[in-house]
Amino acid sequence: MSECIGLKRRAKGEGAQRDGDGGYRKGGGDVRLFCVANQKGGVGKTTTAVNLAAALAQLEKRVLLVDLDPQGNATTASGFDKRGLYPTVYHMLLGGATLPEVRRPSRGGGYDLVGANRELAGAEVELVELPRREFRLADALAPWQREYDWVLVDCPPSLSLLTVNGLCAAQGVIVPMQCEYYALEGVSDLVTTIERIAAQLNPRLRLIGLLRVMFDPRVTLQQQVAEELARFFGERVFTTVIPRNVRLAEAPSHGLPGVRYDPRSRGAEAYMAFADELLRRLEGEARAEGCR
Ligand SMILES: Nc1ncnc2c1ncn2[C@@H]1O[C@H](COP(=O)(O)OP(=O)(O)OP(=O)(O)O)[C@@H](O)[C@H]1O
Ligand SMILES: [Mg+2]
Repeated sequence: MSECIGLKRRAKGEGAQRDGDGGYRKGGGDVRLFCVANQKGGVGKTTTAVNLAAALAQLEKRVLLVDLDPQGNATTASGFDKRGLYPTVYHMLLGGATLPEVRRPSRGGGYDLVGANRELAGAEVELVELPRREFRLADALAPWQREYDWVLVDCPPSLSLLTVNGLCAAQGVIVPMQCEYYALEGVSDLVTTIERIAAQLNPRLRLIGLLRVMFDPRVTLQQQVAEELARFFGERVFTTVIPRNVRLAEAPSHGLPGVRYDPRSRGAEAYMAFADELLRRLEGEARAEGCR
């Protein structure tokens, strides 16, 4: 149904040429499938998911962003009017549509999007009755995910069955958090959930790292919490810190990721630096694995 700009852009390279059915041949490498999650609301999950998707696309990665939140904020930030959007991730989770039918090229981000809207709220109840209810997203992505280098999932602010679907599909979790007094409390619940899902449902799952966002260095408490987080979680805290930056907040109303809306803003530069740090960290880990 939809054409994939992210893939078309890469079509000159290997692994992204169209096959005879109008689809895309499978790429060669392994996909990285990561969730952006934190059950706390308004902590910068969507801003991180959208900007990381656009930053990775800018670094020539083939990226799919899945909006798994009925609020549909990642959908809006990718340039779509979520009202009346059809089909969406809801139809994919319930088995009524496939990924190629649901994905769309984002308007200016260079990645593909699976959109969401309020209809997805109903999925919580409907999924309970379905077989493999925790694996609906994993199963829907599996036949197609090798067409991408990266699949990112923007989770809702809860530890609901939707988030569990995200965690059961993923290999890793990126946790954005604000440097506030109560930040650690929420994160320990999430870490427990990740450990439980890794033990019972998805052994590949692991915490990739905590990303400190909306940071304001003028606020002493934020500095203290930022340092405490680094002490407590050690290497699990990314070195890059995303500053509070109004351009990042303005970008969604223009239907664009911040890294495309104003690439020279401090917020955009920080998300580009974060994408770079993430890639380096994963490459370093892969090298270390290879040496063992
Ligand atoms: N670094 C930043 N600087 C300034 N504003 C930001 C920054 N990051 C996010 N925001 C703004 O903060 C608000 C919440 O961010 P966002 O929607 O990314 O959080 P969320 O965790 O996805 O929220 P929800 O839990 O509701 O899904 C939004 O208005 C967003 O534009
Ligand atoms: Mg969100």
